[in-house]
Amino acid sequence: MNFEEELNRAIDQITDSRTREAMRYSLLAGGKRIRPSLLFLALKGYGKDEAEGLPFAIALEMIHTYSLIHDDLPAMDNDDLRRGRPTCHRQFDEATAILAGDGLLTYAFTMASGADVPAEKKVKCISILAEMAGPDGMVYGQTLDMAEDSTYDFEALKKVHKYKTGCLLSAPLMMAAVLADQEDAVVEHWHEIGDTIGLAFQVQDDILDVLETPEQLGKSNSDERNEKVTSVSLLGLDKAEQLMDSLYEESEKEIEEVRGFEGKELVDLIQGIATRKK
Ligand code: IPE
Ligand code: IPE
Ligand code: MG
Ligand code: MG
Ligand code: MG
Repeated sequence: MNFEEELNRAIDQITDSRTREAMRYSLLAGGKRIRPSLLFLALKGYGKDEAEGLPFAIALEMIHTYSLIHDDLPAMDNDDLRRGRPTCHRQFDEATAILAGDGLLTYAFTMASGADVPAEKKVKCISILAEMAGPDGMVYGQTLDMAEDSTYDFEALKKVHKYKTGCLLSAPLMMAAVLADQEDAVVEHWHEIGDTIGLAFQVQDDILDVLETPEQLGKSNSDERNEKVTSVSLLGLDKAEQLMDSLYEESEKEIEEVRGFEGKELVDLIQGIATRKK
């Protein structure tokens, strides 16, 4: 299975329009595909076929891409570069970027509802996607991110990270557990593991924003220009790096302890993420 081709094929099913081409432009610009990989490797760890997770992996990558398109808009982070290309609103225009985001978010649920899995599991996965993406999930985190002010301490920032980034990293792990017939308490445990990975991932994103160039990152590094409160601005670089390392280690330990789960490949993925430079 070639995931990039699957994404392209999904976009091909939509009526031709400027919005469709903007959706394709941002979706196929070469993201790291971390969320789909988490889903596939979590399924594998449970001895399940990754093909069963494909529609949900596509849906998740569409929702994540929509969150990036909107995050880059002038009203939010106002960035020009994403995934090594001009941001969607720069390449097209603001209205088209808003619509491409709307289209990806909505079409994600068309993808998920087409999955060939028993109805009860499908509804559970769709409801996880909706909750983790929506106003009690990523959208809540982005809301807090926009409202931040200089009185923020690290506890407040951790909450922003948990929602804006953790939720979409928990979703693939939770959906894999559902598809592998795990009980609710186990699904909830994966939610917590995703929170830990999410916090580590966003601390790292804040670090890379300071250390790397836009060319290396493939995206604008705008935290300083936007006067964002970040892990680095609050903790300093050294402490932020220590925290990131210890959070990734904690998540690896937790994965290895999940009962009935062969965690090696998922842990390898996390270790790869922990040393990423973009
Ligand atoms: C960027 O996510 C946004 C954050 C939550 C930090 P990724 O670093 O996974 O971006 P892509 O998908 O590889 O472009
Ligand atoms: C955004 O965090 C996370 C999202 C939910 C899109 P950032 O604003 O730090 O992400 P980047 O650095 O632009 O990718
Ligand atoms: Mg942002
Ligand atoms: Mg941003
Ligand atoms: Mg960032």
